[in-house]
Amino acid sequence: MKATAKAHTNIALIKYWGKRNEAIILPTNNSLSLTLDGYYTTTTVEFDESLSQDQFILDEQIASGEQYNRVTAFLDIIRQMAGKQLFANVTSVNEVPTAAGFASSASGFAALAAAGSKAIGLHLSEKELSRLTRRGSGSACRSIYGGFAEWEMGMREDGEDSYAIPIAPANYWDIRVAAVVLSATKKSVSSRAGMRRTVETSPFFQGWLDSISYDLAEIKQGIKARDFQQVGEIAEANCMKMHATTLGAKPPFTYWHDTTLVVMQKVWEMRSQGIPVYFTIDAGPNVKVLYLPEHEAYIEQTLGELQGVTDIRLSKPGQGITYI
Ligand code: ADP
Ligand code: DP6
Ligand code: CO
Repeated sequence: MKATAKAHTNIALIKYWGKRNEAIILPTNNSLSLTLDGYYTTTTVEFDESLSQDQFILDEQIASGEQYNRVTAFLDIIRQMAGKQLFANVTSVNEVPTAAGFASSASGFAALAAAGSKAIGLHLSEKELSRLTRRGSGSACRSIYGGFAEWEMGMREDGEDSYAIPIAPANYWDIRVAAVVLSATKKSVSSRAGMRRTVETSPFFQGWLDSISYDLAEIKQGIKARDFQQVGEIAEANCMKMHATTLGAKPPFTYWHDTTLVVMQKVWEMRSQGIPVYFTIDAGPNVKVLYLPEHEAYIEQTLGELQGVTDIRLSKPGQGITYI
């Protein structure tokens, strides 16, 4: 009754930003991501008859509060699916900063879903695993797959048709992502709270939704043609629109720091000099820079010289779930 799984984070090129159902995590729009090899989580789940409650150890610390509650609520779903009332020891190691806008919830819940469902004896297809994973953290349902994946929002209110599908595997196209680390500490507004406030109060939210189908169609065409400029332009524009919605929220907020803008402006400057480079930013201050392998050395050096940059982690497209 024990299993270990490894999952990578993913960076959304078309963002998931908004829920239509918070309880079972149904999104307001499709999203599309690239799984990254540089950041991952390894999680072991062991169900044990002698336990009287779940235990969750994250990075060698006993977790409590909201972090613990999210894990036990997710294990409840697995227990219900399996029809077994057993508690578990969960031990997880994040090779990614936790809750800082590097998508730890994506690698974290994908690894938990894979290890937990295997440990309890469920034999899930990738589609079933993605659908289950969605209940832990929406973005996590895309991390089941390597390379490019799309989360189809689905139409049904029971969530049966809301899961990710693979678009192209990791070896399809070697595009790179530099995660520019400005702050690796916990953000003050979680992704969940940030999107809730935006959906409920931002007059810009409808504009965001109205722009999704165009962005999605264009980026898929760009991926199909391996057209880096098209993918980069759409990803950057989609990121800007998502972050614009937070400025219209009540009360307004932003995930950006002053240093976030410094990196964005450097990317624009490099582009004006003819280097094809684009950025995207998740719910946090840190910037993910998209580039092609031949520009890696220059981009790493140029970004590394900026004030406020504490680390740069380079990623290639990553693999989907693996069992250890
Ligand atoms: P991030 O940008 O890191 O995804 P979120 O606010 O979306 O930030 O989610 C962070 C939360 O995800 C953590 O506070 C914790 O509840 C959960 N989480 C992160 N890593 C793990 C893990 N390895 N296992 C289970 N839950 C995790
Ligand atoms: C900006 O998946 O972390 O990174 O479903 O509430 O756990 P919950 O939120 P989460 O939100 C991710 C938001 C984003 C965009 C994205 O990854 O698509
Ligand atoms: Co997250």
